[in-house]
Amino acid sequence: MSKNKIKRIAINTGGGDAPGLNAVIRAVAVSAEKRGWEVYGIRDGYNGLFLPERYPQGGLIRLTHDRVRGITNIGGTILGTTNKGNPLKYPTKRKDGTWFEKDRSDEIMKAFRKNKIDALIAIGGDGSLTIANEFEKKGLRVIGVPKTIDNDLDKTVITFGFDTAVSFATECIDRLHSTAQAHQRAMVVEVMGRYAGWIALNSGVSGTADVILIPEIPYDIDKVVVKVKDRDREHRYFSIVVVAEGAMPVGGKSSVIGKELGRAERLGGIGEHIAHQIEELTGKETRVVVLGHLLRGGTPTTFDRLISLRFGAAAVRALEEGKSGVMVALDPPTVRYVPLADATHRMKTVPLDCDTILTGRDLGICFGD
Ligand code: F6P
Repeated sequence: MSKNKIKRIAINTGGGDAPGLNAVIRAVAVSAEKRGWEVYGIRDGYNGLFLPERYPQGGLIRLTHDRVRGITNIGGTILGTTNKGNPLKYPTKRKDGTWFEKDRSDEIMKAFRKNKIDALIAIGGDGSLTIANEFEKKGLRVIGVPKTIDNDLDKTVITFGFDTAVSFATECIDRLHSTAQAHQRAMVVEVMGRYAGWIALNSGVSGTADVILIPEIPYDIDKVVVKVKDRDREHRYFSIVVVAEGAMPVGGKSSVIGKELGRAERLGGIGEHIAHQIEELTGKETRVVVLGHLLRGGTPTTFDRLISLRFGAAAVRALEEGKSGVMVALDPPTVRYVPLADATHRMKTVPLDCDTILTGRDLGICFGD
């Protein structure tokens, strides 16, 4: 794999999809073609390279300018993605029928060489970028692009996909206000975000929730109950409670509903649990809405489209400038490059003294503490 002249690059999308993936793909394909490079999209994470037999029409798709026309505003990813079968921890069966996680990254490196790929632009969250960083250590030129609705990647002010998720969650909270008020109910809204409370915090404050529960602030259910009862006393007979899927009670843990080999833990159930407790402890009729994957679907907001296009074009410029092992990061008003290892080293959670939390507190929002 040549360190200098680039002729052919690959691009892939890994982990959960996020609005803006197609905009990044388009920006990469068009700006790379302008430089005379060939661009290939890898199907379904690394599967197109790793398991080509699954793809009768080819595990790599040639991405010409024509092939990426009209996709900027479309959700999902034209390449497909997966959060199964991490090549560094590939679920593998032993002869005795038991399973273990095997590092199969060398096989993928071989496939990169076989397909004469000079560099990879990897679009992903912490899992996918950690994998990409391993390929860089093994000699492939790699540029990362930060994607996740959770916004939990370090060293970038924001990841693409987050703004769309927060905008949609806020719209849902707005809609729930009227029905909560009409029926004098408590409405619990569970949102995604894994172990970070960014989506719950930003949508909850914007949607004027009464209670916001995030993993960074373990909650005391009695504090939530006091808030709901106080509102009743003030003749505000409804309450909106926004709960991050990773929220946890004081002394407790996030609600994990599954863990498979080679995959991240699945979270869920906390909204239902809290709704049940509120109903029991206040006597107030309570309903729960789990927004789940709705937050990942649909057309990206203007903000997400623009940063996705900026990230994609910046990734190509980085390769042209000879960079490798870096992630494109938003550092307003510009984009810059940070070492991939720094971006994936730790999760970016909500700082307890950030001004959005302070704003929420000033507005009387209860954080369960
Ligand atoms: O990381 C993005 C995310 O949507 C998380 O917010 C959520 O916990 C997880 O992915 C859900 O993953 P899956 O698509 O496997 O249900």
